[in-house]
Amino acid sequence: MTTLEPLVLGLGARVVGAAAEDLPAGDLRTLLDEHHVLFFSPSDLDDDRQQALLDQLGNPYIHPLAKMAGATTTRCGHIVDDADHPPYQDNWHTDVTWDPTPPTIGSLRAIDMPTIGGNTAWANMHVAVERLPDDLRSKVEGLVAVHDMGAAKAFTSKTSPELVAKTREAFPGVERPVIATHRTTGRPYLNVNSAFTSHIVDMAPERSTALLSRLYQHVAALDCTYEHEWTVGEFALWDEQSTQHRALPDHFPQRREMSRYVVC
Ligand code: SIN
Repeated sequence: MTTLEPLVLGLGARVVGAAAEDLPAGDLRTLLDEHHVLFFSPSDLDDDRQQALLDQLGNPYIHPLAKMAGATTTRCGHIVDDADHPPYQDNWHTDVTWDPTPPTIGSLRAIDMPTIGGNTAWANMHVAVERLPDDLRSKVEGLVAVHDMGAAKAFTSKTSPELVAKTREAFPGVERPVIATHRTTGRPYLNVNSAFTSHIVDMAPERSTALLSRLYQHVAALDCTYEHEWTVGEFALWDEQSTQHRALPDHFPQRREMSRYVVC
């Protein structure tokens, strides 16, 4: 029998008694709409099967940098942190919101875990809207923000400055509503993130920066977050629109390896 164990009120559930591959894609989508992040017990899932599973939930997502380097197909990517490659995904973010067609569903599989640390945290962006203080809500309703590659520090350290520049030219940024509507549930979600939102359209730069920092502080202080301590072999799926996530960097310089695959 398959059961769902909710993790915190309104965010995250552990699926007990079934592997992700046992559940039809429609059921996985329904569970994601309800719980936003799903965790599955350690299994023998491998890269090929992780990819095949996700490809049932959306279209393969090719990152703009890979596209600009000529890629026409994609595979599971391995995120490896160690003494020579410090962790860098430690700020709250939603993946690649500067792409006009960003990922909609993400997945991670724990391959090698440090003895201490290396958790991943998620925050619920529907709840972020519901809990906006009245004065902040009235300021942000109806606003539009630009998302772009930003300083691209992480990208520059992983690839060549030339490829980053070419990608920035081809993907100059996207305008998105600050409070957006979820593609399947129609629920409002907070749609700015500190990694990729550069400024609010038609607003003086200082005001825009101040307003965005208030929103980022609101996300950081939200009590609807869940931090997952991984066991090797565990697998997680999450909805990109209804959540933000961050990888805690506290395991450095220990080794950590995750297999990541996202679809759009
Ligand atoms: C990510 O930000 O997509 C990676 C999260 C993680 O490695 O825990």
